Amino acid sequence: MTVFDVERIRQDFPIFSEKVHGKRLTFLDSGASAQKPQAVLDAVHDAYAKTYANVHRGVHHLSQQSTELYEGAREIVRAHMNAASLDEIVFTKNTTEAINLVAQSYGQLALKEGDEILLSYLEHHSNIVPWQLAAEKVGATVKAVPIDQNGEFLLEEYLKLLSPKTKIVAITHISNAIGTIVPVKEVIEAAHNMGIPVLLDGSQAMPHMKVDVQALDVDFYVFTGHKVFAPTGIGVLYAKNEWLEKMPPYQGGGDMINRVTFEKTTYATGHSKFEAGTPPIVQAIGLGAAINYVNAIGFDTIAAHEQKLLAYATDQLSQLNSVKIIGQAKQKAAIISFTMEGVHPHDIGTIVDQSGVAIRVGHHCAQPLMDFFDVPSTARASFALYNNREDVDHLVQSIKTVQEFFG
Ligand code: ALA
Repeated sequence: MTVFDVERIRQDFPIFSEKVHGKRLTFLDSGASAQKPQAVLDAVHDAYAKTYANVHRGVHHLSQQSTELYEGAREIVRAHMNAASLDEIVFTKNTTEAINLVAQSYGQLALKEGDEILLSYLEHHSNIVPWQLAAEKVGATVKAVPIDQNGEFLLEEYLKLLSPKTKIVAITHISNAIGTIVPVKEVIEAAHNMGIPVLLDGSQAMPHMKVDVQALDVDFYVFTGHKVFAPTGIGVLYAKNEWLEKMPPYQGGGDMINRVTFEKTTYATGHSKFEAGTPPIVQAIGLGAAINYVNAIGFDTIAAHEQKLLAYATDQLSQLNSVKIIGQAKQKAAIISFTMEGVHPHDIGTIVDQSGVAIRVGHHCAQPLMDFFDVPSTARASFALYNNREDVDHLVQSIKTVQEFFG
């Protein structure tokens, strides 16, 4: 598609024919979970209705078809991220499970007392708590790179915090709460200069940009399917083969073994070592369909559209005196957090919902970031490829209702 036609795109998403409280739906909560296009719904339906069976286990026709589709989805993900090999694409339940996998497995391999794990103030709890659990086991410490009042990641402070004690750097690619895009290329280069591996949490990046893991030279890259228009219950851990070979299994069970006896078990290699049990077969097939869908549109056009919307929404919201935008980094994804003087974010969310506007309110699973900005919570509008200027106008109008309500 050369010209981005948002009205055409909206027709791909059945949810937009639904009304909320009898009003037009303005969905600005894609950062929490994105809506699904018909292509994904069809792929999921067909996988259950026409080809469903368990994978890797049957010689019968359906099992083989199902396995082909499931492994085909892995190839779609591999090609999309430009991973060097299929072995490097591990399917998980979501981002949280992918990070827990690395924290526990890499932790067992490489962490010891006195070591440091370097995170940042921008992290989601899912990129904090798994590391705390891994650190507690061995007596390691979690440290965090500071940010400034605009929500910018402070590269110079990061360089100061890197030390021979640092055993891994785990940083978000894009902040879920305030949209900051982290200069990940510089983060990775500096860590690698000291021989330190890097994990990037790409949950908020994958719906907005094309990620090339080889160009980044990142060690671990994780994301979740449901934010990138796929079903829930499927996530991805990209990991360099050199790590997967050395890391111990995270969970034991069927499909991750080479040979089992009561005395000793040997493990499968590559992604199989980390995929115990029946996997999320249909969810993975749905993820493949979702990635094909966004690639057919193209990330250049998606990003250009979203950046225009971000600029328009920032401008419109800035004109409302009572609104304060939290997080004004120079490089931002289309995510806007804000507060209103004298109004609790939950009240903002509840009142705009009455107009059919869906936003997220709360701490966004980023309490250290909320503490930094000295707010308990914010209201957050997060945009995706299907949003348009009418959504922004609808949001602004509904915030004016909040203003009127609170005088
Ligand atoms: N991590 C999701 C969000 O930012 C749930 O809303």
